[in-house]
Amino acid sequence: MHDLVSIAHLREHIGETVRIGGWLTHLRSKGKICFAVIRDGSAVVQCVVVKSAVDETVFETAAHLPIETSVIVTGEVKADDRSPGGVELGVSDLQVVGASPDYPISKKEHGVAFLQEHRHLWLRSSRQHAAMRIRSEVEAAIMEFLHAEGFVRFDTPILTPCAAEGTSNLFATEYFDLGEAYLAQTGQLYVEAGMMALGKVYCFGPTFRAEKSKTRRHLTEFWMVEPEAAFMDHAGNLELQEQMLSFVVQRCVERRRGDLELLGRDIEALERVQAPFPRITYDEALELVREKAPDDGSIEPVEWGEDLGAPHEVLISEQFDRPVFIEKYPAKIKAFYMQPDPERPEVVLCSDLLAPGFGEIVGGSERIHDEALLRQRIEEHGLPVENYRWYLDLRKYGSVPHSGFGLGIERVVLWISGLPHIREAIPFPRMLYRIYP
Ligand code: 4AD
Ligand code: MG
Repeated sequence: MHDLVSIAHLREHIGETVRIGGWLTHLRSKGKICFAVIRDGSAVVQCVVVKSAVDETVFETAAHLPIETSVIVTGEVKADDRSPGGVELGVSDLQVVGASPDYPISKKEHGVAFLQEHRHLWLRSSRQHAAMRIRSEVEAAIMEFLHAEGFVRFDTPILTPCAAEGTSNLFATEYFDLGEAYLAQTGQLYVEAGMMALGKVYCFGPTFRAEKSKTRRHLTEFWMVEPEAAFMDHAGNLELQEQMLSFVVQRCVERRRGDLELLGRDIEALERVQAPFPRITYDEALELVREKAPDDGSIEPVEWGEDLGAPHEVLISEQFDRPVFIEKYPAKIKAFYMQPDPERPEVVLCSDLLAPGFGEIVGGSERIHDEALLRQRIEEHGLPVENYRWYLDLRKYGSVPHSGFGLGIERVVLWISGLPHIREAIPFPRMLYRIYP
């Protein structure tokens, strides 16, 4: 079927008779003419079937096609200014490839539970494939940016012997005779080894958190990109993050405008996402919460040393027209590997990047590069030093200051596309109450 023309390219074939292959998304039939909208993934096109112009069986088939029937359509490409792609197809033949009796998803409103149960089919809906195309664009843009900056992709393991982001949310599994293994919460510890070998590296893959959170921002399996660079300090880390995110957002605005429009996203707001981003400290963030919390008491102030909750993050991020960094959190609420601020050791050189009206999309830090301090932190966190021997070795042999960050792909896709819930930012979401399909 190498002769099939992709719908997105039909415009280059005006006046020619071509064949396309795809799925019926919409049918309107009135007497002697019917209009079949066909989707092939690249775009959609309206195919016009005129009774007098085709075999009788072809017209009968076309006029009664069920939604999501797969077809091969032959027809002449005609310029048509009123249609979205600028063309329509004057049909001369239509063959059914795969029937689709009683397709379960119709135009009528379905409940979220029903749609989730039919995720394998829900993905064919226009809003869902717009989201998937934005996701693909985000992933491609990230890789393009990092490669241009000299980063080497360094794939890290998913089965790991130890925790990296706290022990409360680990997925454990028996690993033969070697005890428990855990699904990686992050690839960070391993990219640090890669960084000492290659200077600038990143990993990009699925990560796992057995989090009992049921929010619109949490998955138990999510994809993360984690760049790590030698000799990069905290300030350099923030710069890399704002450069990368601006690049990714502007790339989506440029190449996925149609999808963003279909989703109803405010594109001007995205156009404002340009580096540099504002920076505030954790202390300033607490102050801002006190100042801006609504009078009805719905958002509680945060005591120094407590973590910010989702409502706090949203409130803070709403005060800015582009993403904002919150830096220097108290050491005691952050991971064991973060470098203390030399001027104020009770806080660490870390940052969370909050997207406007949304909340955290990126987390990063400068890492401890001193072996003794790192060992002390591992012990203070009650972690088994034995399992971190290799990680401590990185500080024993040619240690250098270094930093990195983790960007959650689904969080970024959710924010850029303006979707209501993170379950729509990944093909098959894994959540507290869902593992099917
Ligand atoms: O802030 P986190 O936990 O940072 C790390 O894992 C570091 N090791 C990263 C690094 O420095 N290399 O997670 C990073 C990002 C968050 O900002 C968020 O975007 C995303 O990962 N994330 C989640 N996304 C969806 N569901 C969850 N349960 C998530 N937990 C974190
Ligand atoms: Mg975080």
